[in-house]
Amino acid sequence: MPREIHPDLLVGSETGDDAGVFRLTEELALIQTVDFFTPIVNDPYLYGQIAAANAMSDVYAMGGRPLTAMNVVCFPVNEMDISYLKEILRGGGDKVREAGAVVVGGHSVEDQELKYGLAVAGIVHPDRILTNTGAKPGDLLVLTKPLGTGVIATAVKGGFASGEVEAGAIEVMAELNEAAARVMAEFPVSGCTDVTGFGFLGHALEMARASRVGLRIFASKVPLIPGVLELASQGMVPVGSHRNLEFCRSILKVGERVSPVLLDLLADAQTSGGLIISIPEDQADSLLERLRAEGVQHSQIVGRVRSEGAGSIQVV
Ligand code: CO
Ligand code: CO
Ligand code: CO
Repeated sequence: MPREIHPDLLVGSETGDDAGVFRLTEELALIQTVDFFTPIVNDPYLYGQIAAANAMSDVYAMGGRPLTAMNVVCFPVNEMDISYLKEILRGGGDKVREAGAVVVGGHSVEDQELKYGLAVAGIVHPDRILTNTGAKPGDLLVLTKPLGTGVIATAVKGGFASGEVEAGAIEVMAELNEAAARVMAEFPVSGCTDVTGFGFLGHALEMARASRVGLRIFASKVPLIPGVLELASQGMVPVGSHRNLEFCRSILKVGERVSPVLLDLLADAQTSGGLIISIPEDQADSLLERLRAEGVQHSQIVGRVRSEGAGSIQVV
């Protein structure tokens, strides 16, 4: 994309942040983001919920709060019953309402392949914007949701995942990053991003590059959805996740004790993943405590920010 320059454009596309931020007044900035994808689960209502949680996640990752959303729909009118779309929109609408935001409209086109998502507008104080450029040497990294939704979705398609494992992934994907963002606002957080299609490693790499720091990831501390390690060791890793790993490979140093399967999961493409929060070391334990108290129960300290090896990641 060509680089945009405007005095009130506070965050553009050049650092790989998924949302743009535009200053409206000294006190108020507008966050805009859009996300849509093909169905990740069979149930249309859950698909709608997950798509909405995912679309609003970039607002939360920037320290903001969503206000309005617009449905983006591509629908195969001739092949699919319209009641299916009704359920998707009901799921999306319910999730937007849960976030305290409101659906104000949308746009639909006919397409051979179903796709759904939302364009979301949110607000943030211009001095309180969090981006992936802020991570500082000495910080610790906190991840707020367990990984593995890409592997589980692949296993579900092949009929290999148990209902229990599938339900675990759905719960993770449908969960808003709202509580995590609300808690994060109580702390002097240095930087933040959310984990989606590029996987934990891919988004961590974007953060390392944009913040010009090195990251050390404690692989055994990274939370995983129960059952996903078994599925990944049976080879159920989607193409996109392997591609993520290949993309990171040249800047990755991997310790001998890190298994290839675990590395696959660290790179697994996530839908509606958690936040990666970079926070000064002396604040990390209190942040973790507050996150868990607010129901963000899978949160873990998963790494450390370093001045050495800027733009690279060490997995130990
Ligand atoms: Co994002
Ligand atoms: Co996005
Ligand atoms: Co229109």
